Amino acid sequence: MRRPFIAGNWKMNLNIEEATTLASALAQQTASFRNVDIAIAPTHLALSSVINAVKNTGIHVASQNHYFEESGAYTGQVSPTMLRAAGVAYALVGHSERRTLFNESLAEVNKKMQAAFQAGLLPILCVGETLAERNQNSAESVIKEQIETALDGLSADQVAAVTIAYEPVWAIGTGITASPRDAQQIHAFIRKLLVDRYPAFVAEDVRIQYGGSVKPHNAAELLAQPDIDGALVGGASLTVDAFVGILHAITETQG
Ligand code: 13P
Repeated sequence: MRRPFIAGNWKMNLNIEEATTLASALAQQTASFRNVDIAIAPTHLALSSVINAVKNTGIHVASQNHYFEESGAYTGQVSPTMLRAAGVAYALVGHSERRTLFNESLAEVNKKMQAAFQAGLLPILCVGETLAERNQNSAESVIKEQIETALDGLSADQVAAVTIAYEPVWAIGTGITASPRDAQQIHAFIRKLLVDRYPAFVAEDVRIQYGGSVKPHNAAELLAQPDIDGALVGGASLTVDAFVGILHAITETQG
């Protein structure tokens, strides 16, 4: 059985003080959730303070981005080893906003995956098609290419430790969610890709999150799908009520 994994991507929101306040409130209000893994991804600037606020709780901290080199003359970049040393556990890699707004290439995403593992960070690999790609019936081929290139060169054990977040670009921040049926179809497709390429335990272990306008009112139905193992939450992770509401919704479904 895969443990559900709910992660909040705070994107470029909340300054140090606001992020720390939210993290402290979440630390208090999530203590009763035992059968779910929880992570939050604040801005780099707030990582230390947030890590401190959730110390000795079940909440893990994730980074939103890292560079693939370990150190050196790369002005403005943050390395995965620095993040690991600060206490970061998970690393978002290849979010669609990075791919589209910052031209992150498939090759760069692969380097970031490798660098994350080398530093001891567990990657959350984000994939997903645009609306135009979906309308052209190429969602599956786009996702296949994103996944195959990102995982290239990783061992089966490493791939088994990856979380994949399926985030259809048209559902991010739009209030439009993929229907549970459409999301399940892509999640099953992703798991099949793993079945075809790796030993059986890999596809059994990999958790596939859905992301794109996940809210308390739609989380349970999405998470009830057999291949949806969690959620990557944007907007609704910015308030205690909405994020805890999602945790309640999914843990109630589990019974
Ligand atoms: P929203 O939940 O705001 O649609 O964002 C999803 C997302 O991009 C999480 O990484």
